Amino acid sequence: MERRTIGATALEVGAIGLGCMPMSWAYTGSQQRGEESVRALHAALDRGTNLLDTADMYGPFTNELLLGRVLRQRRAEAFVSTKVGLLVGDQHVVANGRPAYVRRACDASLRRLQTDVIDLYQLHRADPEVPIEETWGAMADLVRAGKVRALGLCAVGARASRRSGTGVGRPVRGGLHDGTIRQLDRVQQVFPVSAVQAELSVWSPEALERLLPWCEARGVGLLAAMPLGNGYLTGTLTTGGGFEPDDVRARHPRFTAEMMAANQPVVAGLRRVARRHGPEVSPAQVALAWVLSRGRGVIPVPGTKREKWVRENAGASALVLTEGDLEEIAGLPGARGSWD
Ligand SMILES: NC(=O)c1ccc[n+]([C@@H]2O[C@H](COP(=O)([O-])OP(=O)(O)OC[C@H]3O[C@@H](n4cnc5c(N)ncnc54)[C@H](OP(=O)(O)O)[C@@H]3O)[C@@H](O)[C@H]2O)c1
Repeated sequence: MERRTIGATALEVGAIGLGCMPMSWAYTGSQQRGEESVRALHAALDRGTNLLDTADMYGPFTNELLLGRVLRQRRAEAFVSTKVGLLVGDQHVVANGRPAYVRRACDASLRRLQTDVIDLYQLHRADPEVPIEETWGAMADLVRAGKVRALGLCAVGARASRRSGTGVGRPVRGGLHDGTIRQLDRVQQVFPVSAVQAELSVWSPEALERLLPWCEARGVGLLAAMPLGNGYLTGTLTTGGGFEPDDVRARHPRFTAEMMAANQPVVAGLRRVARRHGPEVSPAQVALAWVLSRGRGVIPVPGTKREKWVRENAGASALVLTEGDLEEIAGLPGARGSWD
């Protein structure tokens, strides 16, 4: 698999990463598939898909424990990317960016992951009650202590509030990246940012407007979260909607039956491009190859708990889209179904 570097660091990873969230969180049935997930993790490492993206919050905690089972045997092959700053409370997901908490959370993640160093430690959400410089300073101390190799910041969710948690899980769109850029400018004064994680896909390209140029100008990598549009862009979902209440798509405006039907032209376009490259090429691979084509510093982290999707997604690194393909994708209708 093609290798890419994380921003200006010397850290190299396979061009396609693995989002581990669906193994324990956010999608219906996640918790019941532990053994399948372990097989998927081994399959990923076998193929050079070595960036494994998790968070202490996924599960909570069980996602890191699952990774730990594999890292115990194969730590040297993996690039471990986890996150801090969000907690699952009784009613809501809440932010905690207090330095003492960050230090404790890092030690707990290291124990669960069965490793002595985290390759990329990301701030999941800024805590509105703690100056971000304080949180970031505590994370920088973890690098100095040798517990962490590089720092990243997530721009995927909206505001997190210790009090209410309102808005957590809602993707940031368009101009909302302005707030992330302000945060990034502030934390850069404290310690270098090596990577930003943000939603980026054919149907959510907003990060290309200001966030990716910000990253490219400063040698910061971009981890593309949700590169398959929560599964929609793969063309494998039925258009009936009706997700279980524990599935993030049950509350996602693009996953009502009406919007899933309305957005079919996007999937049809990806399918047309895939067919031109041969019967073995899938819309998912086209969607991932498009993300890869956005810049050398962009690394998609498609999420899955299935070995067969890990294999398929890894194959996207060998798919080179033509100018004609890219023009056709650029001409697809914008996605319908908005958070606003
Ligand atoms: N920083 C943040 O706040 C944040 C927020 C969201 C996500 N993320 C990260 O980004 C990663 C990716 O996001 P995501 O997992 O939500 O969305 P995604 O990658 O866009 O889509 C994941 C869904 O696509 C399905 N899938 C994957 N490969 C497929 C293929 N080749 N064919 C058919 N279906 C396929 C998976 O199915 P199965 O579940 O059946 O395997 C899963 O339901 C996460 O795992 C997480 O690491 C970060």
